[in-house]
Amino acid sequence: MKHRTLLLTLGVVAVLGGAAYANRYTLEHMVMSRMHGMGMGMGHMGGFGMDHMFKGIDTTPEEEAELRAMFEGHDKITRTVENLPNGIRTVTETTDPALRDQLVTHVIGMIDRVDQGRDPKVTIQSLTLDILFKNRALIVTEIDPTDTGIIIIQTSDDAETVAALQKHAAEVSDLAARGIISAQEAMMARHH
Ligand code: HEM
Repeated sequence: MKHRTLLLTLGVVAVLGGAAYANRYTLEHMVMSRMHGMGMGMGHMGGFGMDHMFKGIDTTPEEEAELRAMFEGHDKITRTVENLPNGIRTVTETTDPALRDQLVTHVIGMIDRVDQGRDPKVTIQSLTLDILFKNRALIVTEIDPTDTGIIIIQTSDDAETVAALQKHAAEVSDLAARGIISAQEAMMARHH
């Protein structure tokens, strides 16, 4: 009887572990196969594994895990962006409750970082964020978490800041629509 319980436990662990591995493999594999298609090898990735892409100068494992979860689940995220004369109103949602929580924590945490001027300098982050961090005192933010996601209204009286808010919102939409490929393309464009 004891033996059976052990076997069952091992079975469950193996299945869960396999699922986690498969998930991880999917994201890495998507980028690798695309890079091979572009005539690039592993060297360009700095080895197998993309965890470094989600790291910054002081990012926590939780923040990095949130980014990974959003990229892995990007096709479960829907988003609408309304450009206001002085900013943006965005609605970002998912029906996956775990992903919803990670999305909400990401947004609240990142907007808090902007408020405090604590730029994470994540490897794949957009240069548009430089302007938002520089002009943080000029941004007014409303955050409204919902059961399925989060509504953000950000406004400013400064034209450069409004343009950056709108550009960044469009970039987030592309991340949600195309996932890691979008981040990878933006990163490669920066290095040319
Ligand atoms: C699939 C990937 C991602 C999704 C779905 C996502 C989602 C969001 C959303 C919904 C917002 C609120 C502003 C808006 O709605 O436009 C936001 C803000 C922010 N995100 Fe992400 N994000 C992603 C990737 C990243 C990455 C890679 C970084 C790198 C550090 C990042 C850093 C930030 C920062 C700093 C803000 C605050 C900017 C502000 O004050 O407007 N995000 N993100």
